[in-house]
Amino acid sequence: MDIRLLHASDIPHVQHANITNLPENYFMKYYLYHALSWPQLSFVAVDVSRPPKSPYDPPRIVGYVLAKMEEEPADGVAHGHITSLSVMRTHRRLGIAEKLMRQAQKAMVETFQSRYVSLHVRISNNAALRLYRDTLGFRNDKIEAKYYADGEDAYSMRLDLDGVRAELLAAGGEDAEDEGDAVGDEGKQAGEEMEKNEAGEVLRKVRVGRGLGVGELVERDESAKA
Ligand SMILES: CC(C)(COP(=O)(O)OP(=O)(O)OC[C@H]1O[C@@H](n2cnc3c(N)ncnc32)[C@H](O)[C@@H]1OP(=O)(O)O)[C@@H](O)C(=O)NCCC(=O)NCCS
Repeated sequence: MDIRLLHASDIPHVQHANITNLPENYFMKYYLYHALSWPQLSFVAVDVSRPPKSPYDPPRIVGYVLAKMEEEPADGVAHGHITSLSVMRTHRRLGIAEKLMRQAQKAMVETFQSRYVSLHVRISNNAALRLYRDTLGFRNDKIEAKYYADGEDAYSMRLDLDGVRAELLAAGGEDAEDEGDAVGDEGKQAGEEMEKNEAGEVLRKVRVGRGLGVGELVERDESAKA
């Protein structure tokens, strides 16, 4: 089984899985919106046990998690949201949903510094509730009455992602929080050197692309002329 990022070409297969497994369905463009806006956050589970017969065979997608960042968080806190999750009946209780969820949660922290992740679940959906509450550690935030089109209530659940952040820091050491060299005034003190060229112009040496082999760029100082 491969768990990998959702590609735009997977969308028809994910949509098929969604229609098969859940009554909450979406237009193709909504999947595309996720894939284009937050390409790091949605994952698919692909059954690779039977190799494709030809290069045109579609991947056998048996599970997916469609995730996003909340665009205008009411509380002002950056957080992710699980739009949809499902696993095909033939592949359930193998830990696939748990893996998909953990991948999405990790990516939310790594890429968007998400503080928590939220979701909605039908109050009658015992399998999903067990997964979210007991396996992943989500807690009920509130009940949203008649949230679903058929009138069923939803639990609004959330999981604090501090634990995921701590795991990432422990795995990556200091680099996990390294967002590159300091810039602005701080950067000037840290890495800037001045020198003059043959014409007497002041040149400012700026260090860039540390670790990427980009080397040093020499930038002309125009400020004196202005
Ligand atoms: C809910 C769903 C995504 C779980 O997928 P899954 O891949 O079978 O789940 P996992 O194998 O990762 O299960 C992890 C844990 O969740 C809980 N769990 C999952 N399915 C369960 C079930 N049918 N009954 C009770 N607990 C269940 C168990 O604690 C399980 O751990 P365990 O197998 O060690 O006991 C799947 O049942 C599904 O697609 N359902 C229909 C769509 C749906 O309801 N999506 C969620 C909408 S909010």
